[in-house]
Amino acid sequence: MKLLNGEILANKKYGENLYKLEVFSPYICRNCLPGQFINIKCAYEGMLDPLLRRPFSIYEIDKKFNVFSVLYMVKGKGTDFMARLVKGGMLDFIGPLGIGFKADEEIKNYLLLGGGIGIAPLSLIAKELMETGKNIFFLAGFKDEAFFLWERDLIKIARNYKIFTENGSFGQKGIPSVYLKENMHLYKNYKLVVCGPKEMLKNIQGILRDFPGIAADALMEERMACGIGVCMGCIIKIKKSPGGFEYKKVCTDGPIFNLMEVIFD
Ligand code: FAD
Ligand code: FES
Repeated sequence: MKLLNGEILANKKYGENLYKLEVFSPYICRNCLPGQFINIKCAYEGMLDPLLRRPFSIYEIDKKFNVFSVLYMVKGKGTDFMARLVKGGMLDFIGPLGIGFKADEEIKNYLLLGGGIGIAPLSLIAKELMETGKNIFFLAGFKDEAFFLWERDLIKIARNYKIFTENGSFGQKGIPSVYLKENMHLYKNYKLVVCGPKEMLKNIQGILRDFPGIAADALMEERMACGIGVCMGCIIKIKKSPGGFEYKKVCTDGPIFNLMEVIFD
């Protein structure tokens, strides 16, 4: 992990409130694993608001040209600052952070399930899985067609996928967790990797209780402050047998956890 500055090569609008930021960084391209994230300074030099860096997953890595990208949604002050960054400027960030994703050698089939911007880290994980010869199926769910362009990136990685939108404006009308519940029998020999809103993760945990043999990793996106394990701002509860729990830091113990061990309060 290093404090880095990378030249911004593009900051493209990708949909409603959605942007793709491309940054030149040989260090990140050499050292970052899928599932890891960076902590971006969202204020100009000398300005203190917002004070805290903001965490973002690595979305793509192009090792040939030493370029990585982040796909982000504008939510508040920090991401509003990011949306105004322009080509040629410098991005101040720390990374790579967190523990990266490692595929399970024993498992051949992976079902990736992303809700909203949760598809960002899963896209790089999907690419890694395809490159290591795994079979993947990607399920994605969005509110509306804001993520329309993402399908163009996805088909470069995966041919087996289903996209749902709540209003039916892009892909099929519906939500992936409902589809999963009705079709779980098709995925009995898959491992799940999921990322998205907490409510979605909780639903999937509930569905999987009826399928005790199926393993699932969840990428947790708690709000963070330091991003490096110091402030305890990102702790979650993880089940610890028998019957107890322990606190884990999403930034340094995660962001990937066994979904069935996460306690959602
Ligand atoms: P703020 O002003 O801080 O908050 C605006 C609103 O967004 C508030 O309602 C707040 O409650 C909500 N919010 C802020 N942070 C989160 C969060 N972590 N989860 C849910 N709601 C939040 N976002 C992306 O767009 N792309 C990514 O690839 C991505 N990867 C992430 C990886 C990790 C490990 C984590 C922890 C978060 C990730 N996020 C990602 C979420 C992103 O960090 C937040 O959206 C961002 O920090 C919001 O900053 P802001 O200053 O714009 O909003
Ligand atoms: Fe500070 Fe995780 S964000 S300990």
